[in-house]
Amino acid sequence: MTYPPKLFTPGPVDLFDETRAALGQQVPHMSHQGWIDLYVETVQMVKQVFQTENDLILLTAPGSGAIETGLASLFQAGDKVIVVRNGMFAERLVQILTCYRCQILAVEGPWGEAIHVEAVADLYRQHPDAAGVAVVANETGTGVCNPVEELAQLAHSHGSPIFVDAVSGMGGYDLPVDRWELDLLVTSSNKAFEMAPGVGMLSVNERAWAAIDAKSETANRGWYYNLSTWKQARSKAAFPFPSTPPTAYIAGLHASLKRILEVETLAGHWARYAWAQRVLRSGLRAIGFQMLAADAIASPTVTTVYRRPEMASIDELRDYLLDVHNILIATGGGPLTGQIARISHMGKASTQEYLTCLLLAVEDFLRSARGIDVPVGASLIGLHEEERWY
Ligand SMILES: Cc1ncc(COP(=O)(O)O)c(C=O)c1O
Repeated sequence: MTYPPKLFTPGPVDLFDETRAALGQQVPHMSHQGWIDLYVETVQMVKQVFQTENDLILLTAPGSGAIETGLASLFQAGDKVIVVRNGMFAERLVQILTCYRCQILAVEGPWGEAIHVEAVADLYRQHPDAAGVAVVANETGTGVCNPVEELAQLAHSHGSPIFVDAVSGMGGYDLPVDRWELDLLVTSSNKAFEMAPGVGMLSVNERAWAAIDAKSETANRGWYYNLSTWKQARSKAAFPFPSTPPTAYIAGLHASLKRILEVETLAGHWARYAWAQRVLRSGLRAIGFQMLAADAIASPTVTTVYRRPEMASIDELRDYLLDVHNILIATGGGPLTGQIARISHMGKASTQEYLTCLLLAVEDFLRSARGIDVPVGASLIGLHEEERWY
């Protein structure tokens, strides 16, 4: 097929028309007052989604670039950093911190479960000099939410900051930065913000700034991916960037945020994702699939589902959906390779139109490729049970 597949991947996601239209415009110049006004409004809207009054920085970066910026700014070589290690993206935190020669104190947890806060408390007792905690809020590799509010309280009780990778979480559910005192939190544009990849977003509170400012001048922290550089630029009110900002992408982000906040409302946006999660989980269960994550800790943005026992690998389903239905899903990594599919309900994937296509295509796979007799439409049970359709 020549046209792009429908995306059910946990980033990038299929975009709504308003955002696509904004991305199709001529590239704005950063000194033009029209764009500066749009930038200021975009920052305010991002802050609304983060529920924060903190400093908010927009970088040209994928999620990993925003994470690296945050970690490299907050910690330095030799720091002991407690890392909640229970999934694919927790491994990314470990890799980045290792590059900056931090000492990793890992709290290991099974992939598919949330971490126990008590295990982190134990580690703090053993290492009262730990420099802070790093955690993935919504582990995209397993579809599990970690208890970031409790972890933040724990870190603060030991006088240290928390770093939160909310790349696939922020915007998808209620993750209040100020209320939970999430000191340095990062996300990116191509997940629950429903935009193309390219804009990294960081919020930094006073506790995080204090830790950043206290780092030695000689720490290896680079220039662009260094929040001290951004702090300096911020004091030049007319142009708070150290280099050329991603003007066109910020215009796209602006369009998406307008749709989310003004048309849908933030609560409505979360409700659509929660609805899509319920529709998907009940539909897949109705045709014999089991979920990896328990309902209580299941991610509102990505659902992880085991292969049925008749299947040798989940890749069979992924390949069939792509070849026959032009639908792209993601699969698991690490110990979950071949075992699980990761199906996103962000962007257009959280609409009735997309969910119906996906669920009927999975049914077709079971009948046509696997000879399993499921009644046509059995997986749409959630759509019939729910009061509201999106
Ligand atoms: C939780 C989480 N962290 C980090 C990343 C890395 O983001 P990127 O691929 O944009 O660098 C992802 C990407 O899916 C993610 O889901």
